[in-house]
Amino acid sequence: MTTFAKDCLAGKMFLITGGLGAIGQVVVGRLLEHSACVTVNDIVEEGRAQQIIREKAWSSDHLAYARADVTRPEEVERLVSRALGAFGRLDVALCHAGMAFTSPIIDYSESDWQKIMDVNLKSAFLVAQASARAMTEHGIKGKIIFTSSWVQDVPWPDITPYNVTKSGIKMLMRGMARELAAKGIRVNSVAPGIVAVGMAKRQWDTEPDYRRRAQKAIPLGYMQPPESVADALIFLSSDASDYITGTTLLVDGGSSLYPMD
Ligand SMILES: NC(=O)c1ccc[n+]([C@@H]2O[C@H](COP(=O)([O-])OP(=O)(O)OC[C@H]3O[C@@H](n4cnc5c(N)ncnc54)[C@H](O)[C@@H]3O)[C@@H](O)[C@H]2O)c1
Repeated sequence: MTTFAKDCLAGKMFLITGGLGAIGQVVVGRLLEHSACVTVNDIVEEGRAQQIIREKAWSSDHLAYARADVTRPEEVERLVSRALGAFGRLDVALCHAGMAFTSPIIDYSESDWQKIMDVNLKSAFLVAQASARAMTEHGIKGKIIFTSSWVQDVPWPDITPYNVTKSGIKMLMRGMARELAAKGIRVNSVAPGIVAVGMAKRQWDTEPDYRRRAQKAIPLGYMQPPESVADALIFLSSDASDYITGTTLLVDGGSSLYPMD
């Protein structure tokens, strides 16, 4: 069953980075269900990627896998060219790849800081910039959407550098929205909360202190279904959101409303 009209993304060509991650796989499945064509990027090696694609029964008519490390400018250039070539145009770029390391800030190493900045923030800049250039060159009034997080505005403990990257994405998004509006390119973010798969679930399962805090931090009282992230991305990708640019769509079960920790 689809959340929106089954054809609401028909004719739209997507690129998603980090698309084979836990949330990414749910997003890709949902985009396909709503008739999109999707170039899926990740750093997952080709054989493993094809195995996931087979297991999910994603059709090669509507999906292409493009392995690339999105922290590297030359790989991002090639990735966006491949996305353009795969389905003939690029309408929506989802800057979704990300990672987190847990550590008190006082112990955080410089190398982990740099890695987080590169994977979460620099990659978002590189992919959004290359996508905007491609859209502009081809006269496409496309959409760029970042996956941020509720912690872009909340100092959730032990992942402070991650929070910094998501705050940085907020201003990158607003700045790009302002600059690209005249070209008809809309730029927005989705900010999920504590999702029941992926990085939060890994912490939930392995860090008792995190679990204790997280259990108290969600006013709606349950972990976030990843489908809610996908549905927010579909809305911001669809024609229904054409008058929205420069916005963060918070989808966090109320976690950011007040500090419950
Ligand atoms: N899980 C949550 O609770 C949560 C909450 C808010 C926001 N988010 C955001 O959602 C996004 C996905 O998170 P997730 O929980 O699914 O994590 P995940 O670890 O399951 O997925 C991240 C994916 O990004 C890929 N990736 C990492 N570095 C890359 C690189 N250099 N180039 C290309 N791909 C790369 C990984 O291989 C992985 O498949 C991230 O941006 C994360 O910050 C997650």
